[in-house]
Amino acid sequence: MVVDISVAYRGRGRGLTLSEELKTFISEAKASGMTSSFDVACEDSKAILKKSGLPYLPILGFEVPAQEMLEEAKALQSLMLAHRSDYEDNRGWKSLVLHGISSLHTQGAEKYGMDPEDDSIYRWTDISDMAPVTTAFFKEQFHYDWFHRVRIMMLEPGGYICPHTDFDHYTLGPVNIALNNPEGCEFVMQNAGVVPFQQGTINKLALVNRHAVFNNSDQARFHIIVHGCPNWEYWSPVYMNSYRRFVDHESTSSHLEESKKTQSLFSRVTRGLLQTNS
Ligand SMILES: [Fe+2]
Repeated sequence: MVVDISVAYRGRGRGLTLSEELKTFISEAKASGMTSSFDVACEDSKAILKKSGLPYLPILGFEVPAQEMLEEAKALQSLMLAHRSDYEDNRGWKSLVLHGISSLHTQGAEKYGMDPEDDSIYRWTDISDMAPVTTAFFKEQFHYDWFHRVRIMMLEPGGYICPHTDFDHYTLGPVNIALNNPEGCEFVMQNAGVVPFQQGTINKLALVNRHAVFNNSDQARFHIIVHGCPNWEYWSPVYMNSYRRFVDHESTSSHLEESKKTQSLFSRVTRGLLQTNS
């Protein structure tokens, strides 16, 4: 359903002056929905991550203690720091670092004049001791060989993240885990529409695509973003299982069949011909 965004803003975004760019981006991306071309015949996990063209991949097979993690995040709310507000026109986006340079270094190491590939600069921060369930989940159940950044990200009610890209080439990159996702809060991606999130959802995201988030609700939204290196033996089948499920779902999704868009799924999906967004 295409929401009349002007009504939505009047209803919940009290007093906000949203840029035309943000409003137009959200409206157009939602109206177009999933238009990405992606390969449905990847035969190995590296191809899924580097060449599939998927705008996002919902990761299956994890039991995320999302409610407990949400309660820990809410308890730390007063410590969170404004994130990317000094050089971008975002509003209400905050962060706290569980693993990284320190709990205060919410951005990539290069922003602080450091080498992001230098593993020696990353560690579990003092904040990790204050979020024991969350930290134990990543240490014991997430099966990463090492982490760079693991951050709690909060978007305040009425907050927004302006349209942007984070990569200049295609890759299914950072992991984004929803501790909650209030009704009215949407992560919108160019060529994909609204990226599905509900409590406990894990998505790997292709952030070469422009994306924006608007929390058009009266509750704060808490997600966790993970950068690091997955244990390949564990994660490779996870990627493959998740990919097959996603492709099967997209191929049979009734909403796509009912779509009145100009092209059918099968004319959009490229079988065997890789078409990336790079
Ligand atoms: Fe981003």
